[in-house]
Amino acid sequence: MSKLWGGRFTKKTDQLVEEYTASIMFDKELAEEDVQGSLAHVTMLGKCGILPEDDVEKIKDGLHKVLQMIRRGALEFTIGDEDIHMNIEKALMDEVGPVGGKLHTGRSRNDQVATDMHLYLRKRAVEVVALLAKLQEALLTQAKAHPDTIIPGYTHLQRAQPILFAHHLMAYVSMFQRDIERMQDSYKRIDVLPLGAGALAGTTFAIDRHFVAQELGFTRVYENSLDAVSDRDFIVEFLSNASLTMMHLSRLCEEFVLWSSTEFAFVELDDAFCTGSSIMPQKKNPDVAELVRGKTGRVYGNLFGLLTVLKALPLAYNKDMQEDKEGMFDTVRTLQGALQLFAPMVATMKVNKERMRQAVNQDFSNATDIADFLVGKGMPFRQAHEVIGKIVLYCIQNKKYLLDLTIEEFGGFSKLFDPRIYEVLQPEHVVNARNVYGGTAANQVAEAIGRADKQLAETTAWIDQYAAKNK
Ligand code: ARG
Repeated sequence: MSKLWGGRFTKKTDQLVEEYTASIMFDKELAEEDVQGSLAHVTMLGKCGILPEDDVEKIKDGLHKVLQMIRRGALEFTIGDEDIHMNIEKALMDEVGPVGGKLHTGRSRNDQVATDMHLYLRKRAVEVVALLAKLQEALLTQAKAHPDTIIPGYTHLQRAQPILFAHHLMAYVSMFQRDIERMQDSYKRIDVLPLGAGALAGTTFAIDRHFVAQELGFTRVYENSLDAVSDRDFIVEFLSNASLTMMHLSRLCEEFVLWSSTEFAFVELDDAFCTGSSIMPQKKNPDVAELVRGKTGRVYGNLFGLLTVLKALPLAYNKDMQEDKEGMFDTVRTLQGALQLFAPMVATMKVNKERMRQAVNQDFSNATDIADFLVGKGMPFRQAHEVIGKIVLYCIQNKKYLLDLTIEEFGGFSKLFDPRIYEVLQPEHVVNARNVYGGTAANQVAEAIGRADKQLAETTAWIDQYAAKNK
């Protein structure tokens, strides 16, 4: 059968052009959404009296059959039919005959493809929120299992101040919470229907766009027909959100790679999430963490790819925009794959509490607290800072830690010291002294966990509501 748009042409399309311009190799991923959109469109055509009801029924019947064939893998897609929209329309006509040709009444592939993408990303956004919530849950479970485990906190990757391990994990819970909220916010802009914009200007048929929106569960319709078919902001936003989440995951990956090294030995990742070396039998490599860190690059690349495609494109549809798909599908796969692995990897991670304690005991991360002690006794902070600097230097030169110093040694640096300094320098004391909202004190971390549990419950309710809308 010839091309659906073949009427104006006298020559066959060049074979290479056909291959170069086709998108069916990748946009077949939109098959479900394409049929979903067509069903709503044809229902509306019937309701508005644009098509007789028995044509509508035949077309709907045919679309259901085509969808079943696609699901069974029984429909052979062809490059000659260019993209998913025309492959499905062809299959429909093979199924129901020429009446199938009435489906495209009052519609263009431009508003059709945009609608498919909105339907597709709406589902993916809800799935990503659900995966992020699962990861938060795994982090929260680990945080609750280690209410009093202390690690050195770092700045510049140098030991800075001791903190609760749970506090460190809760920082990631906060980061993923922002990712969830960003995804929920951008959902509002995915949840808009372009269909009815036609090729660019609207349509001469008396269609009902709001009815189609309702059928497909869209909250709003695009205000402007040109914008409806030209807008890919919602995909850029998704790719941008995905980039931020991958960046967060990549930072956590780096911590896991460091923490699971022999040098740190703070955690051990489960065997199921590591791989061995083909030559060095002793090795257990944190491959998943490394690969998620590595794949972050391609997600950034996809974001920049699309921004660059859209830059300087005149309104309305341009074929360039077909380039919006592969990067989007790849991002969905990469992001969802990473999140799926991360939750169980965090949940099964073993925490080496003793080793963490050993690290905390063998550093100067309690130095700030001596300064705060002297400040409490009336010494200006800058002067205290200078005194502690000298004490630390003395310790390094004499191979001692702060808690090894005698009260006489302390006294040599300032008369303000008294034996209470030994209590002040205990890691538990150092941690619990940071008793401000959002700080590392055990009671503050417990409250943060409580707040995160509440947020997680709200996220779960959101997921339930929006997953149902996308059924
Ligand atoms: N395959 C096309 C795309 O993904 C569908 C829209 C084609 N529209 C057109 N006017 N050629 O962008």
